[in-house]
Amino acid sequence: MSKLIVANWKMNGSLTLAHDYAWALTQHLEEKPIPHTLVVCPPVAYTSFMVGRLVGASIAIGAQDCSTHKKGAYTGEISCEILKDIGCTYVLIGHSECRQNHQETEETLAAKMTLAYETGLIPIYCIGETQTERDAGKTKDILAQHLSFIDQKPLIIAYEPVWAIGTGRIPQDSEIQEAVLFIHDRVSRATVLYGGSVTAKNAGAILSLPGVDGVLVGGASLNPHEFWHIVTAV
Ligand code: PGA
Repeated sequence: MSKLIVANWKMNGSLTLAHDYAWALTQHLEEKPIPHTLVVCPPVAYTSFMVGRLVGASIAIGAQDCSTHKKGAYTGEISCEILKDIGCTYVLIGHSECRQNHQETEETLAAKMTLAYETGLIPIYCIGETQTERDAGKTKDILAQHLSFIDQKPLIIAYEPVWAIGTGRIPQDSEIQEAVLFIHDRVSRATVLYGGSVTAKNAGAILSLPGVDGVLVGGASLNPHEFWHIVTAV
């Protein structure tokens, strides 16, 4: 079954990695075509390079964030229109690192979602509970809160428990399944991904869970061969 598999490089990599990565992935794809949709979200500075190398190989490129503004005097920000112009197809919105580091509010996130849709970018909206929220038994409340301003447009939602991101800890299979089915129930036409410490080792089991339509991979996506193992895990 076709899955959506997304690599999020975060603020890592180099032009050398971009070059080697594109070469390795296209080689793998030539040797073994796959039924899945692949998206790579490099730092925005490498976007054009990656678009040039990967889009022809049917790998889409995404951005890791976007501005809440359409255009204008917003030094350092990047609009959805510019992202679209340089060849991005997808954009991550509400990643927990952005929520925390940029104090993103629901209004901010709603504005980004609207601009992404208006521009024709496909948003990947990230949601998930912190360790404290989990310990307090509030996982579903938090998911419901993060989904509260989402309307029923077809959309991609990544369930990423904050405590599982970059920690090597993942929820039990039953917990992942419960959370993604809860999201499917709330947003009927959503494609739901799991993210947080996905590796080549655990990807097969996660991707086989009912309701998991794909994965969002951070650290393990930086090595193209490990990423390929994840891609070929189902
Ligand atoms: P991780 O990151 O795979 O390194 O845990 C996932 C993410 O932040 O999207």
